[in-house]
Amino acid sequence: MNFSTTIIHWYQINKRDLPWRKTNNAYYIWLSEVILQQTRVAQGLSYYYKFIETYPTISHLANASLDDVLKLWQGLGYYSRARNLHFTAKEIQTKYNGVFPNTYGEILALKGIGEYTAAAISSFAYNLPHAVLDGNVYRVLARYLGVELAINSNKAKKYFTEIAQGLFDEKNAGMHNQAIMDFGALQCVPISPNCDECPLMITCVAFNKKNVSSLPVKEKKLKIKKRFFNYFFIRHNEQTFIQQRGNGDIWEGLFEFPLIETNEEVNIYSLVENDNFISIFQKSKYLILNVSNPIKHILTHRHIYCKFIEIKVESISKKSTLVNLQQIPLEELNKYAIPRLIDRYLQKENNIKLRKERLF
Ligand code: ADE
Repeated sequence: MNFSTTIIHWYQINKRDLPWRKTNNAYYIWLSEVILQQTRVAQGLSYYYKFIETYPTISHLANASLDDVLKLWQGLGYYSRARNLHFTAKEIQTKYNGVFPNTYGEILALKGIGEYTAAAISSFAYNLPHAVLDGNVYRVLARYLGVELAINSNKAKKYFTEIAQGLFDEKNAGMHNQAIMDFGALQCVPISPNCDECPLMITCVAFNKKNVSSLPVKEKKLKIKKRFFNYFFIRHNEQTFIQQRGNGDIWEGLFEFPLIETNEEVNIYSLVENDNFISIFQKSKYLILNVSNPIKHILTHRHIYCKFIEIKVESISKKSTLVNLQQIPLEELNKYAIPRLIDRYLQKENNIKLRKERLF
């Protein structure tokens, strides 16, 4: 028996008896899928019954008030799903005369319906040949074929879609999809699956390689940190100020303009009130010439949002922290190793010389 025949056979013996499996009404199937995105089957059942009793057809749902729909959804959370449900019912009412569309493309185009839900509805209701891919399916496929590609990597979706489609039984699309989902939920469970009684045991790559417990692979996604840099490109008698970055942070040893890092994006009005700004400029006479638009600079685990403030300083107060920085002629900037972000800014602002002539 091949993969599909085996799981369908397993499904017929072990399947859960669920009401949305006894209908091919696409509207009911859609309701069940949206509810099950929010909750487990046990809690989802009562919502499913409430919805189909209160709104037995798409027209009932479309004609309902949004407040009533939200009320019925109460307890499930993430209310945008309920809003989309109502919006899409109205769309189906006007665009398709209240009849749920019956092609994968049309279903996928509906608001709130992604690839998984479109494959589920089109296969369960119309037996269309689109393999579903949810967490359970990823696990079954990764183990059965011994796939070590991380299921949350960029390449995973395309790769697993191809595999899923390859093992698919197009003639039994709906049944195959229900079967693989239940197989993942009940048999090929995340922790300590009972492989000794699994009908796929003989051909399961992970079982044979004894690495069931390490599949599927999930890569740890590092949280991207956002940082907000405000650089001061100072003009003072054809000179500017730079400092060298220290150790233990990005761009170790590179040179940069005086910097104020903030916890969020700030405008120039709050920046001039910042304590660091006051220490830098003290009672110096300055004139703000230009504030660049925020520039987003992407590093591996950080996104830097940076603004350059071009500022002309007439006289420098002795108390200014600028006196501790390196003061260099503008022309010499290119002799220093600077981060690409600053280099790009300077190139874009282009031709320091030209600007110098204009400004001084
Ligand atoms: N979870 C999501 N869709 C489901 C379905 N059709 N049956 C059981 N569990 C599900």
